Amino acid sequence: MTRVVHTRAEVTRACDEARAEGRVIGVVPTMGALHAGHLSLVERAKAEGATFVVATIFVNPLQFGEGEDLDRYPRTLDADVEALSQLGVDLVFAPGEEEMYGDGFVTTVRVAKLTETLEGAHRPGHFDGVTTVVTKLLNLVAPAIAVFGQKDFQQQAIIRRMTEDLDIRARIVTAPTVRESDGLALSSRNHYLSTDERARATAIIRGLRAAEALFREGTRDPNVLVSAARSEIEPAFDAVDYVAAVDPATFAPAQEGAERILIAAAAHLGATRLIDNLLLGGSL
Ligand code: PAJ
Repeated sequence: MTRVVHTRAEVTRACDEARAEGRVIGVVPTMGALHAGHLSLVERAKAEGATFVVATIFVNPLQFGEGEDLDRYPRTLDADVEALSQLGVDLVFAPGEEEMYGDGFVTTVRVAKLTETLEGAHRPGHFDGVTTVVTKLLNLVAPAIAVFGQKDFQQQAIIRRMTEDLDIRARIVTAPTVRESDGLALSSRNHYLSTDERARATAIIRGLRAAEALFREGTRDPNVLVSAARSEIEPAFDAVDYVAAVDPATFAPAQEGAERILIAAAAHLGATRLIDNLLLGGSL
């Protein structure tokens, strides 16, 4: 039976009880509107040894910038709980905004450096919102394992760094990106796309895969890899925020000849912003 709770007191109590029974807690933080990508994180938590799985569902206002999609972000709690209970999730924590950020809330958790490029450069304050809410969620649940998706590569790296720096005792696990059959990465934001935009959206993965093919053939010049990706993405999308080849550890521009390169892109179709990435020369 999946239990759904809405308060911090309930979630800490349920997790304390699970720990007292010797269960290994795994957490999957989400903003809801769940799809097969999110659900794969639940399966991964179990595969990593979690015997008490907690999913959190909270559309975190702190991580949305002005003019972003906070108001129209899909909220489908009933369907989400149904999908999570099918997977045998033990506890769903779905707090309201007041519960997370009550009167007098003034604290920000901020990771430097890794937050300055790519998504951080295009979404000011976004990662501060992410690290602040994830710190709260990890403190409330106190999990042994926390699972995040490679889809948000920079996010998982920042959270990993943060848990090391702040001695948060959760093992961070990163799970591969789940894709549609045509390669488009599953995303709650795909629901916004019109039929025409949905057809054009595949250009982002086509571009990244073009770079991957060159890398496999031995191309190690980051500029050539980026150009190959760009030439697919630019004509299909209405605007491109970035197409970049970076060092997956630091997000600094990739060096010529690097063994591992993260190729990442963010681009707009109408009012919808999509991101995707591939790790060339290795997997997580
Ligand atoms: P959200 O976008 O709901 O994503 C929740 C988790 O699912 C993240 O770890 C994300 O990387 C992962 N995910 C999304 N699409 C995926 C896909 N196609 N394949 C595999 N994993 C995928 O990311 C957030 O929420 C928030 O920033 C959060 C961490 C919950 C903090 O508010």
